[in-house]
Amino acid sequence: MKKLAVFASGTGTNFDAIQKSILEGRLKAEIVCVVVDHLEAPVIAKAKAHHIEVFAFEPKKYNSKSAYESEIVSLLEDKKVDLVVLAGYMRLCGEVLLEAYEGRIINIHPSLLPSFKGKDAIQQAIRYGVKVMGVTIHYVDSGMDSGKIIAQRSFDVEEGMSEDEIENKVHAIEHILYSETIQKLLEEMV
Ligand code: GRF
Repeated sequence: MKKLAVFASGTGTNFDAIQKSILEGRLKAEIVCVVVDHLEAPVIAKAKAHHIEVFAFEPKKYNSKSAYESEIVSLLEDKKVDLVVLAGYMRLCGEVLLEAYEGRIINIHPSLLPSFKGKDAIQQAIRYGVKVMGVTIHYVDSGMDSGKIIAQRSFDVEEGMSEDEIENKVHAIEHILYSETIQKLLEEMV
């Protein structure tokens, strides 16, 4: 069974969707740890409810990004993690993590990259008035939402759709596409 680490900073609906796919047998993998950079993040309780180990840390308590990433890399190596899955992890990966896992770290972003990188991507797209929106899954490099694209899924923005309806649509796509893509990547891994 391939081993995943999920990194998150907030709500954790993508974590939940991935765990549900595992429990339902659509994703043949195991989440062996959840890494969180906020001690109060709701994703922590979600992970604990499934008895998954959580590494929650406060970046400010470390002297550098390398210092906390070194701890994280030791944990990932300890747990023999095959794939690092960023799911709402609001931090750029630094050189320690990238040197250890580059090519094995993926991220999900709520826009059709390369459009609308960074924070509030859905609101950026709504403000711009685009008629096609979607979700991207990509490999992670040192840039912001800039790594090689693995998968994208789009939808048409219908006349009169509210912001809430658009957001719900984006998240519904995320919750399906992430597990499907992870499953494909794991099948391609030797
Ligand atoms: C998702 O929209 C994801 O695309 C973005 O951050 C959000 C995380 O949501 N990177 P959640 O914490 O999984 O609910």
